[in-house]
Amino acid sequence: MEHLLSALRAVAEPTRLRLIVLCARGELTVSELTQILGQSQPRVSRHLKLLCEAALLDRFREGSWVFYRLSQTGPVGLLARQLVAACDETDPTIALDRRRLAAIKRRRAELAGAYFAENAAQWHRIRSLYVEERVVEAALLDIVAAADPRDLLDIGTGTGRMIEILAPRVERALGIDQSREMLAVARVNLERVGLENSAVRLGDMYQLALPDASFDAVVIHQVLHYADRPAAAIAEAARVLRPNGILVLVDFAPHALEYLRAEHAHRRLGFADAEIAEWCRAAGLVPAPPRHLPGDPLTVVIWTARGARATGLSPGAVPVAPAAATARLEGELR
Ligand SMILES: C[S@@+](CC[C@H](N)C(=O)[O-])C[C@H]1O[C@@H](n2cnc3c(N)ncnc32)[C@H](O)[C@@H]1O
Repeated sequence: MEHLLSALRAVAEPTRLRLIVLCARGELTVSELTQILGQSQPRVSRHLKLLCEAALLDRFREGSWVFYRLSQTGPVGLLARQLVAACDETDPTIALDRRRLAAIKRRRAELAGAYFAENAAQWHRIRSLYVEERVVEAALLDIVAAADPRDLLDIGTGTGRMIEILAPRVERALGIDQSREMLAVARVNLERVGLENSAVRLGDMYQLALPDASFDAVVIHQVLHYADRPAAAIAEAARVLRPNGILVLVDFAPHALEYLRAEHAHRRLGFADAEIAEWCRAAGLVPAPPRHLPGDPLTVVIWTARGARATGLSPGAVPVAPAAATARLEGELR
């Protein structure tokens, strides 16, 4: 009972209540929260510290950035979500905070959009700076071919490269991207290789205009590190996945290359296995042991997760795995 009382005491202050409502809308940095609240950074930091101590917010550092998000676990996490739900959206202060947050997100999206637009044509070259593409693509192809999907969705398809390599293995492939410029390049690429079972269309990974349970495989390749709400993107991917489908996520392991933020619009510097596993479970999927493809300086990781019906396991369960992989996964979950 004591932890609930301290959480209630911590949130019983207007700015702190506003902070938990804001952090329920995505992972935000101190400087973003400072801009929204219009208060000094030391003051906002002090409020954030109290909310983290009361376990209402989670704090995580990535290089020089610190993110805050609403706690998702335990009774205090539940309390935090209930408090947010109880807040009146039409309250003038909360409505103003939301409008300011929306403006910040729009600005962020414009910056990322400008980056993608500038780089659409050279994306293949940029990607090859980080990883040995052939190795990743071969591993991905093995995983998807083993799952034998009929309908495949590629979220954040970019120039359509994943469709190019995976579409020959499926009946129908669809690529979604938020950038018209990227899609223009993708359409040219898909026409060039004559993939008639494939299409690309404009869309947002947080709100796919697609029905529930409509794909057997969903791929998100090198997209999550741009996301400000990666867990929400995974949940949306899980929504469109059939009960026996497979979700395949490809991104970087945690790293410290800050310049990828400054020069390449990355928001996250890679992801820990445990973090991805938790998001998959929260989306109702059963995560499998990840596959690490070490590179210099970046390691690419392929995470897969399946609908509970496909594995016969509940989302909380850890599937049987080779000993080393299981040990690593369990080690990180502790
Ligand atoms: C680094 S590229 C990766 C493209 C492709 N998956 C590949 O590996 O070749 C990231 C892509 O994610 C797209 N993207 C970023 N945020 C998105 C969103 N919210 N919805 C849809 N696409 C998004 C970008 O437009 C960009 O094309």
